[in-house]
Amino acid sequence: MSKNVNGFSKLSKLEKIDWLIAHFFKNDKKAKQVLLQYWNSNEILQNLHDDFIENTLTNFYLPFGVAPNFVINGKSYTIPLVIEESSVVAAASLVAKFWSTRGGFKATVISTTKIGQVHFMYEGDKIELINYFNSKKAQFFKVTDAITKNMRKRGGGILDIELRDKTADLQNYYQLHVTFETADSMGANFINSCLEVIAKEFEKEDIQIVMSILSNYVPECLVHAEVSCDVEDLYAEDSAALAQKFVQAIQIANAEPHRAVTHNKGIMNGIDAVVIATGNDFRAIEAGVHAFAARSGTYKSLTNASIENGIFKFWIDIPLAVGTVGGLTSLHPLSKFSLQLLGNPSATALMEIIAVAGLAQNFAALRALTTAGIQKGHMKMHLTNIIKQLGASNKEKVFLIDYFEHKTITHNAVVEAYNKLASAPLSHLDDE
Ligand code: MEV
Repeated sequence: MSKNVNGFSKLSKLEKIDWLIAHFFKNDKKAKQVLLQYWNSNEILQNLHDDFIENTLTNFYLPFGVAPNFVINGKSYTIPLVIEESSVVAAASLVAKFWSTRGGFKATVISTTKIGQVHFMYEGDKIELINYFNSKKAQFFKVTDAITKNMRKRGGGILDIELRDKTADLQNYYQLHVTFETADSMGANFINSCLEVIAKEFEKEDIQIVMSILSNYVPECLVHAEVSCDVEDLYAEDSAALAQKFVQAIQIANAEPHRAVTHNKGIMNGIDAVVIATGNDFRAIEAGVHAFAARSGTYKSLTNASIENGIFKFWIDIPLAVGTVGGLTSLHPLSKFSLQLLGNPSATALMEIIAVAGLAQNFAALRALTTAGIQKGHMKMHLTNIIKQLGASNKEKVFLIDYFEHKTITHNAVVEAYNKLASAPLSHLDDE
């Protein structure tokens, strides 16, 4: 049976599922049920989700959790996090509480400029091109007037349009480099619409437009977040030595890209989780952040730390192009809920919150890695998961967690301990 198909997008949702189950699951009813069980009984909600993308078959759930007790610029937040990885939410909550008694997080947006480019080829005389560009520049603002009208009312719009000679990098390659302010929206559609209109206005026989598109590299859409405290307040014991180790962990990430990637991945655990919870584009954020981490030519840490005059300071500078209006932010009921939970922040306030979530994750990771290691916490979580899979009762669970307190946790060891417990139940365990 051929597994290729024509006109798939025209089939109904059920027809699509049936085709899939027939061709890839030997008509297994259980496989079909796997998809159907995630349909939402609220038809309006389901239709909303169906229409977000094409060929929707069902919904894919991710856990939505919260981390309370964040204090950012003196204001309390409970931060929503959508993530499948255990320990991330627990780490955020612990770190939030820790810093809430040490002055909280301070965050500031450094700049909010976004970039879009019209890429084109031109073989002629450069001076003629410059003259032509200059003669058109005012017109570019005029032809985009209808698109930028509302944005200008909200304090945004096109900031500048530059002609850039890129022929040193690629023969005949020039670009219109356009800078934008997009207020509280992420602005992708706005930027792309402006660019396409500008390109049309600019195009002529000897100017061959290749493409017009925003850039997800946004080093001018930058936010800074930090925490600081006396070195002695950082750890219960050996604070000076451990603070030093913490700083060294960052120096290592700056010296070694293999470590820097994992270091930054931990930061993105916090960043992506809030970005997803608030309906923003995590692929755009990821692409832009990693390009920024490599801006010196070597991939480095996004965070920094210092110890000066007995003060430990830990900070992050990160580009985050996010929105709090438009896109999915108000369409997806859970994104809307997340933004309400955060007090309906402006895009700049959301940038600050997200940067803090990333900084908090990195703090948790480095503190664990440079002291007990992360496996202790991870294995505890792993133990709970295995116990759950085994179907242990509450009392058995308590016993097993206590039993493994100072023992190495492996899947086999837990199963063995559980089997022993099940075959010779202790008197205080046998009432369930
Ligand atoms: C795991 O998701 C993230 C960490 O590996 C980050 C790090 O190593 O810094 C713990």
